[in-house]
Amino acid sequence: MIQIGLFGYGCVGRGLYKALQQTPQLNATIKKIVVKNKLKPRDINHELFAYDKEEILNDREINLVIELIDDADGAFKILTVALQNGKPVISANKKMLANHLEEILLLQKKYNLPVLYEAAVAGSIPIIRSIEEYYNIDTITHINGILNGTTNYILTQCFKEAKTFETALKEAQLKGFAESNPTMDIEAFDPTFKLILLLAHAFGVVVKPEDVLNFGITQLTLFDIQFAKEKKQTIKLIAQAYQTDKGIAAYVLPKFIGEQHPLYNIHEEFNAVEINGSFNDNQLLKGKGAGGFPTAAAVLADIFALSNQYRYPYLKQQLKPVNFINNDHLLKIYVRYATDEQFEAFHFHQILARYDGNAYRYAIGYITIKQLIQAKLNQGKGAFVAEIEETPIQINSGVKIPIKNKLPAVESIH
Ligand SMILES: NC(=O)c1ccc[n+]([C@@H]2O[C@H](COP(=O)([O-])OP(=O)(O)OC[C@H]3O[C@@H](n4cnc5c(N)ncnc54)[C@H](OP(=O)(O)O)[C@@H]3O)[C@@H](O)[C@H]2O)c1
Repeated sequence: MIQIGLFGYGCVGRGLYKALQQTPQLNATIKKIVVKNKLKPRDINHELFAYDKEEILNDREINLVIELIDDADGAFKILTVALQNGKPVISANKKMLANHLEEILLLQKKYNLPVLYEAAVAGSIPIIRSIEEYYNIDTITHINGILNGTTNYILTQCFKEAKTFETALKEAQLKGFAESNPTMDIEAFDPTFKLILLLAHAFGVVVKPEDVLNFGITQLTLFDIQFAKEKKQTIKLIAQAYQTDKGIAAYVLPKFIGEQHPLYNIHEEFNAVEINGSFNDNQLLKGKGAGGFPTAAAVLADIFALSNQYRYPYLKQQLKPVNFINNDHLLKIYVRYATDEQFEAFHFHQILARYDGNAYRYAIGYITIKQLIQAKLNQGKGAFVAEIEETPIQINSGVKIPIKNKLPAVESIH
C-alpha cells in the first residue's frame, strides 16, 4: 500500500486528491496533507490537514512524498529531508527542479531513492518518460516545445483575435490562465525551467537557468504581429534544444513560424513538444500543459511508475559537462528596437536588413547565442527579439507599416 504525504492543496494538489479517489487500482492513499494557511477553508475532511512539515517527513508509515507547493525554496527543503528520511519524492515544481537539478541528482545517488517529476514539464504530456524510455535508443537531434500555456494563449489571442498583448494578458488573468504576477510566464522563465529538465533527459546536460538564453513576449507589439502576418507567419514562444556540430544549442525565444511548422497550429493554452530523432524523423505530442486534473494525471503516472520501482534510467549515465552547450551557435534573429543604444547592445555577426521608421525600427541578421545573452544583460532587454526560421522570409514585401528609411543590407559588422 502506498501511503502518501502530500504537500500543497492548491490547483494541482486538489486535482490529485480527486483523481486518486477515482483511481483505486493504484492502491495509494493520502495519509496527510501539509499546507500553509490555517484560515483557508478546505473542501475535504479537515483532519487530513497539518501545517508542520515534520508531520509528513517524520511519519514512518508515509512511504511517498508528493510535493505540490508553489514555493521553490520550501520545496527543495522538503525534497532534501524526505530523501534523507528514506522517502521517494514526486514533484511538479519546475522552478525548484531546474535550480537544483545537479544537487537533486547527487541526493538521489546518495540516498539511493528516486525523484520523479513528469508533471513539471508540459503538464499532462508524457514527455520525460518518453524521452527516457522510448527515445533512449534513437538519438534525439532536436526538441521544439511550446511549454507555457499562458503565453501561448496570449499569442493566440493576438494573432487570431487581433488583440494587443496587454488586452490578451488581462483576459488570460481573468480566465485563470495567467497568475496575477505573470512575470515567470511572459518573460519566459517558466519554459526555461522546463527546457532545463528536457536538456538533462534528452541530451544529458545539466545547466543553470541563468545560463540559458531567453527572451519573453512582453515587448510584442502590433508591428511585430503585422510583420509576421505579412509573411503568412505566426509567432510562438518556443523552447528549443538541438545538436549542432559543436555541442547542444538551447534557448527559449519567440519565433516566426510558417504553417508548415508542426507547432503552427498549437493554439490557446495548449502545450506541445516536437521531437526529431535520427530514425523516427518528426513526432509531435500535444496536450494540456496545466490545470488540476491534467497535471494530476502526470503525477498519477509517476505514482504508478514508483510502485513498480521505476527511476529515470538513462539520465545518470548520460551527464555531460556544461561546456557541451554551444553558445557560439549563430541564430537568425529579428530585433525590433526603440533607440540606437538598444540596437547597439546587439552585436550582430552579420546584418541582413535594417529598417528605420518613425514608429518602427528593426534589424534582421545573424548573432550568436552568447551575444544575445549579453544583449539582454545590457540595453537589449527592452527590445522585441524573435528567431527567424532558416528558410528565408521575404523581407518587407508589401509591409503596410510606414517605413521612413530603408537601409541597404549591411555585411558583417564584427
Ligand atoms: N497549476 C498548474 O496547472 C501546474 C501545472 C504544472 C506544474 N505546476 C506546479 O505545481 C506546483 C503547485 O502549483 P498549484 O498551481 O497547485 O499552486 P497553488 O494553487 O498556488 O497552491 C499551492 C499550495 O501550496 C501550499 N503551500 C505553499 N507554500 C507551502 C509551504 N511552505 N508548505 C506547505 N504548503 C505550502 C499552499 O498552501 P495554502 O493552501 O495553505 O495556501 C497551497 O495549498 C507548483 O510548483 C507549480 O509550478 C502547476
